[in-house]
Amino acid sequence: MGFNNAGVDHLVAKVRASRFDGVIGINIGKNLTTPVEQAVDDYLTCLEKVHAHAHYVTVNISSPNTPGLRNLQFGEHLDGLLSALREAGSRLDRDSGRRVPLAVKIAPDMEAEEVGLVADCLAANAIDAVIATNTTVSCEAVAGLAHADEAGGLSGRPVFEASNAVIRELRRRLPEMPIVGVGGIDSGAAALAKRGGRGRPGRSSIQASSTAARHW
Ligand SMILES: Cc1cc2nc3c(=O)[nH]c(=O)nc-3n(C[C@H](O)[C@H](O)[C@H](O)COP(=O)(O)O)c2cc1C
Repeated sequence: MGFNNAGVDHLVAKVRASRFDGVIGINIGKNLTTPVEQAVDDYLTCLEKVHAHAHYVTVNISSPNTPGLRNLQFGEHLDGLLSALREAGSRLDRDSGRRVPLAVKIAPDMEAEEVGLVADCLAANAIDAVIATNTTVSCEAVAGLAHADEAGGLSGRPVFEASNAVIRELRRRLPEMPIVGVGGIDSGAAALAKRGGRGRPGRSSIQASSTAARHW
């Protein structure tokens, strides 16, 4: 399935033509057909093209719809990808005189230990922020319902607790890093639950997508 879109050049043309004057975050990922081993080339191409048009860039390594994409969240793949993007991002920042933060968006389907490894890698590569989380591939929350066994990521309530757990672990490991909490925010209380623990010094913000679109 991959990311259904008309490609980065089309996106840049749309952003250039837009009169929107708010904050623009651009989400980049690899093509469906690019092997994971060569994914870094796709991300670098996208970063080069979108840098001038974004206020921040999200590195999406957590969409469940591109087979193999989530492998980029681990080990050498992650370190190779983030170090290449950090280097390119810093060069583009210098050349343009514009600082464009890099945020990495991760999946909720991870054990605490795996979140810890991701956190270490984000810090080691001076990534600016982390967005937690994307949709979940766990069908637990919808077990027994029609279509429960279909492939694809679940948003809204089914991802709420899992994303909160990832945020808590990230906040524990990365007390200073801005965390954007996302996943099942359908009320003020749900938004507050994304803080990741009281008294922590790091800054946090939230994003609400599918559930908010239905409820608010
Ligand atoms: C139809 C749909 C399309 C999505 N497309 C993207 C995407 O292109 N990039 C991305 O990083 N996340 C994507 N997401 C994930 C959402 O941004 C969000 O992380 C996830 O749905 C959890 O938040 P929510 O429960 O508020 O929807 C998509 C989610 C849905 C439901």
